[in-house]
Amino acid sequence: MTRTDSADVPRPDAQLHFGVFFQGVNHWTIWSDPSSGSQIDPASFLRVARTAERGLFDAFFLGDGLRLRESEGGVHELDVAGRPDSITQLSALAAATERIGLVSTSNTTFNEPGDLARRLAGLDLLSGGRAGWNVVTTHNAWTGENFRRGGFLDHADRYRRAEEFLSVARAVWDGWAEGAVAGSADARSWSVPDAVARVRSKGAHFDVDLVPTLPRSAQGHPVIFQAGDSGEGRDFAARQADVVFSAHGTEFDDALAFAEDIRRRLRAAGRAEDALRILPGTEIIIGATEKEAEEKERWVRLEQVTPAVALGIASRLWGFDLSDRDADGPLPAEDPVVAAYEGKFGTRQLGETLDTVAEWRAKAEANGWSLRETVIELGPQRGHVGTPAGLAERFARFVRHGAVDGFNISPYLVPDGLDDIVDLLVPELQERGVYRSAYTGTTLREHLGLAPVG
Ligand SMILES: Cc1cc2nc3c(=O)[nH]c(=O)nc-3n(C[C@H](O)[C@H](O)[C@H](O)COP(=O)(O)O)c2cc1C
Repeated sequence: MTRTDSADVPRPDAQLHFGVFFQGVNHWTIWSDPSSGSQIDPASFLRVARTAERGLFDAFFLGDGLRLRESEGGVHELDVAGRPDSITQLSALAAATERIGLVSTSNTTFNEPGDLARRLAGLDLLSGGRAGWNVVTTHNAWTGENFRRGGFLDHADRYRRAEEFLSVARAVWDGWAEGAVAGSADARSWSVPDAVARVRSKGAHFDVDLVPTLPRSAQGHPVIFQAGDSGEGRDFAARQADVVFSAHGTEFDDALAFAEDIRRRLRAAGRAEDALRILPGTEIIIGATEKEAEEKERWVRLEQVTPAVALGIASRLWGFDLSDRDADGPLPAEDPVVAAYEGKFGTRQLGETLDTVAEWRAKAEANGWSLRETVIELGPQRGHVGTPAGLAERFARFVRHGAVDGFNISPYLVPDGLDDIVDLLVPELQERGVYRSAYTGTTLREHLGLAPVG
């Protein structure tokens, strides 16, 4: 075992936590390869979850998208699509797995707390305390159209609603006292009298009067994840979350700056710095040699950024339709129309600023890149590329210096995309003492090393 116990390493005993992000709707999962399988066949996500469990991952993670992405008046056909309701999908997995955590992204803007808390409590109970809830505020108005609400609430109000939502959810999960079920044939009643508390809550967003329907799970409450990168989002995470799913996990300095910012916000919220785990999303590309890894990355990027995808990404950056341009030609000569693009897309892929376009132009010119090459080199998808040993060294540094607590890994191929990671990378991490060699608990909270719910 090679461990670095030097005084320069702030967390020599730190352990990495892995989740797998089964993306559903996206254009980064390669569908054009013969080995790629269905996104919606249970055999696919079961295979991914079981591989992750074999690799001792903490969690299997699903995003939330209540509407397909759209562009130019139709469904965005370049996306892989198909996303069963996450709690339904995770319930199927609960029956087919034993240890791995099951995390549902569910938004607080278009759900109601009494209902969502009850469904999450059901998943948590039936899985033996393995549920997690990634709380998002879903920032787009087009999702709101599903609910005849359109652009519902401004940004700050969404986080206020999320805060109130979570406090109602926690009251629901606390509704049944420990020992609320009498559990004896001699008892006068099945449940202990007065052991189930009514939840009454009236605030700016909710007016709730309900009787919780379920006892606490083996882990007390579902583990709270948060994904949202604004100042309000980070403060919300610091006050409320157990885990942050961030987009800051590729460059060490960026990851460390994010982690330090979250720790500062935790201190300001009166919480301990180790009360929260930071798991950035990432993609991992492995080769037997550095050269092989780079070649594989090249193949992955060309499959992901097809000419049509490159033009789609450029259209969103420039703010108008570029689908009739030549992706293998130069960058558009026109200036971007900043902030004018109102497409029905999820998280904006790029900054959409004049500065970004200026940087793209300068780098494309200096390197002789086509538009597609430029999108591949400078576009949004980033991850870690290397040999199993090289990646293990890099990740050990990330976690021992407090830049991350682990990664939420998106496989670029489904369902086999985790195999290399589990078979080649995990053993290298174990050898370096930064990854578990067996599950030591049964609940998601225990896997993450979080304190029990009070
Ligand atoms: C890493 C990451 C993953 C996210 N995943 C989802 C998702 O699956 N569904 C969704 O509706 N929003 C998702 N979001 C966006 C959230 O809805 C977020 O609340 C939104 O970006 C607005 O908050 P913000 O301004 O704080 O980022 C994600 C955001 C991040 C940073």
